[in-house]
Amino acid sequence: MGPSVTDALAAAADAARLAPSVHNTQPWRWVVRGDTLELYAVPQRQLQEQDPDGRLMILSCGAALHHALVGLAAEGWEHRVERPAGEPLAVVHAERHAPADPHAMQRMQLLRVRHTDRRVVSDEPVPPDVRDALAEAARHGGARLHVLNRDQVLQLAVMIEHSGEAQRHDERMRAETDEWVGGDRPEGTGLPDAVIPAELPLTTVAERDFGVTGTLSAGAGHDSAAAYAILYGDGDEPRDWLLAGEALSHLWLSATEHGAAVLPLSSPVELDFTRQALRRMLGELGYAYLVLRLGTADPDHAGPPHTPRLPAEQVIEIEPPSA
Ligand SMILES: Cc1cc2nc3c(=O)[nH]c(=O)nc-3n(C[C@H](O)[C@H](O)[C@H](O)COP(=O)(O)O)c2cc1C
Repeated sequence: MGPSVTDALAAAADAARLAPSVHNTQPWRWVVRGDTLELYAVPQRQLQEQDPDGRLMILSCGAALHHALVGLAAEGWEHRVERPAGEPLAVVHAERHAPADPHAMQRMQLLRVRHTDRRVVSDEPVPPDVRDALAEAARHGGARLHVLNRDQVLQLAVMIEHSGEAQRHDERMRAETDEWVGGDRPEGTGLPDAVIPAELPLTTVAERDFGVTGTLSAGAGHDSAAAYAILYGDGDEPRDWLLAGEALSHLWLSATEHGAAVLPLSSPVELDFTRQALRRMLGELGYAYLVLRLGTADPDHAGPPHTPRLPAEQVIEIEPPSA
C-alpha cells in the first residue's frame, strides 16, 4: 500500500488553513472525497458590507487553494485542478505519488512563515530582480502585477484617503469591521490586537485604519522605500478572482523567500468608485483585484505574531468512501 491519498488531501487542506484572507475571515471549506479535494466558499464568513460581490472572499479562497496545492506537492502528490464555474470553486484530483522534490518541501516551509506585516518597511527598496521575480510569480498564478510610478503612488494615496474616509463614515461598514477586529480573537478568526499597530505609521499611502488601537510596535520611519503595485487581470468574474488569489499566494511565498514584506490594501477595491479609478490607472487594460505594498522587512526585528486560525474540524470534512 502506498501513502494514503485521503491523509494527503486532508493534510493539504490543513496546510491551507494558514492562507491569508481578508480580515482573517478564512471563508473556505474543504471536502475530501476519495482521491479528490473540493473547495467551497463560506458566505457566512463573507464581509457583506465591504465585499458584497464576494470578490475578496473568493480571492481569499484562491490563496487557500494555492496553499493546498503547495501542501499536496510537499507530500509528493502530483495533481490536476478543475475550476468549474459555480460550486465547488475547485476540485483537486490527486493523481500519482512520487518522492517529493526538495523545492516543494521548501515552499511548504515558506508557507509556515509567511505573514502580513503592518510595521513600517525598512529604507532598503525591494531590489529590481526581486520585483521581477514577484511579477513573474503573479503571472504564473494567472494574474499580473503593475508596479506604480511615483505619480501613481500619490494618486493611490489620495484614493486610499477617500476610500478610508467613506468607510469610516459608513456605520454598517464600521460595525462590520468591529466584528472582525480587535481583542484576543479566541474563536480563531479575525485580527487580534497583537497584529494591529499601536499607532498608525506616518506614510505617504496610509495603512488601513481598523479603528482599533493595537499593541504592535510598528516602528518609526516612512514608506519612501516601499513599492506599491496593483494585482490585476483580464476578467472580473469569480473564476478570475480565484486565480488572482492563487497568484497572490504564489507571489507572497516568493516574497517570503526573498525577504520582502507584503501588505495587501484592499479598501480601494471594496468601493466601486475607487476600484474604477484603479482600473483607469491600469489604462483600462485589466481589472484591479488588490493593491499591495511591497517592502524589505527589517532583518533585526522579529515579525508580528501569527494570527489565529479556525480548528481543522471546522473547515475540513472527510467523506467516508462510497460503497
Ligand atoms: C484579499 C485580502 C485583502 C486584505 N486586505 C487587507 C487590508 O486592507 N489591510 C490589511 O492590513 N491587511 C489586509 N489583508 C491581510 C489579512 O488581514 C491577513 O491575511 C489575515 O489577517 C491573516 O494574517 P496573515 O496574513 O498574517 O496570516 C488582506 C488579505 C487578503 C487575502
